Amino acid sequence: MSLKIREFSATPEDIAAVVEIDNLCDPEHQYTAEQFRYDLENFDTKKYVLRYYLAEKDERVVGYACYHHMPHRFEPKRFWVWVGVHPAFQGQGIGSALYERILSDLRKLSARWLHTSARETWTKSREFLEKRGFQEVMRSWESWLDVRSFDFSRFQRYLEEAKAVGVTFATLAEESEKEAKWPEKIYDLHTAIMADVPSSSPYTPPPLDHFRRTLIENPDLLPDGFFIAKVGEEYVGESFVFRVPAEPGHLTQGLTGVRREHRGKGIAMALKLHVIRYAQEKGYTLIKTWNATNNIPMLAINEKLGFVRQPAWIEYQKTLG
Ligand SMILES: CC(C)(COP(=O)(O)OP(=O)(O)OC[C@H]1O[C@@H](n2cnc3c(N)ncnc32)[C@H](O)[C@@H]1OP(=O)(O)O)[C@@H](O)C(=O)NCCC(=O)NCCS
Repeated sequence: MSLKIREFSATPEDIAAVVEIDNLCDPEHQYTAEQFRYDLENFDTKKYVLRYYLAEKDERVVGYACYHHMPHRFEPKRFWVWVGVHPAFQGQGIGSALYERILSDLRKLSARWLHTSARETWTKSREFLEKRGFQEVMRSWESWLDVRSFDFSRFQRYLEEAKAVGVTFATLAEESEKEAKWPEKIYDLHTAIMADVPSSSPYTPPPLDHFRRTLIENPDLLPDGFFIAKVGEEYVGESFVFRVPAEPGHLTQGLTGVRREHRGKGIAMALKLHVIRYAQEKGYTLIKTWNATNNIPMLAINEKLGFVRQPAWIEYQKTLG
């Protein structure tokens, strides 16, 4: 039977099909239908484009493709693209057909830059992208820390140093109880730090309400595992984690960052130590993090803490003529 490419609709069946393919293509990062629905419903489609297509064979979904603007790196002509084919149906032209489908849309939208990623170990995916003119623009190391055996005694000095320069630590859960302006303060901190995270295209701060919906109100964000470094009442640094519903025991590291004028005082190290202690106390086993290979300070911190490098992620870009 021939291949049919059709539009995605946000039904439980279509969502389950996309999530199943994602999880089969990337078994080390498991995703749930609830997470997919949350991300979909909180993507601002009034401002940004987002579109999914499904590939069907004998009425079974065997692949999907999507393209969307990047709210954190917004440029009307810049899109993130993704094609995923069920492993049992790979090598049959399905990915190519899906890619052609989205490319035709993207040309109509006057897209100029397409971005995507593949793991360095995903040989077939990399060949697929490179054959289609995608070029590597940056790499990130994924690193894992087993928190069960973490030895805090080796790092005590960072907590003492931070204290000596007047830095205190609070969680988002605590701040949201006692600081009326916490949303604006955390937004201001986060957007200032994000501008300094290495990226292949410039950071664009999303509006405050988008920040609230996608980060602060994200059901997987852990407010008592969200640490804020303060000098007086000023927020100067943050480090936070998300639970991973489909991977009990695992946490995903969100942004760790310190305002420029407060760097080099051990604050980032102290923030990460708070996160690791939280993970241990709550019975988590593993923290997964991602760092650009040119993010020297962050890599130095994670190496000192004992994070173990996994295969890198390669970000690709294609420029359309
Ligand atoms: C990465 C960042 C959080 C570091 O914050 P910081 O508070 O200055 O870091 P600390 O003072 O805690 O540094 C701790 C250790 O990291 C190392 N380090 C920090 N900055 C470094 C640099 N520029 N080069 C090399 N090593 C560095 C130091 O070796 C230090 O350890 P030591 O005192 O034992 O020698 C900060 O540079 C930042 O906010 N960057 C932008 C946000 C970002 O990229 N976050 C990560 C996204 S994945």
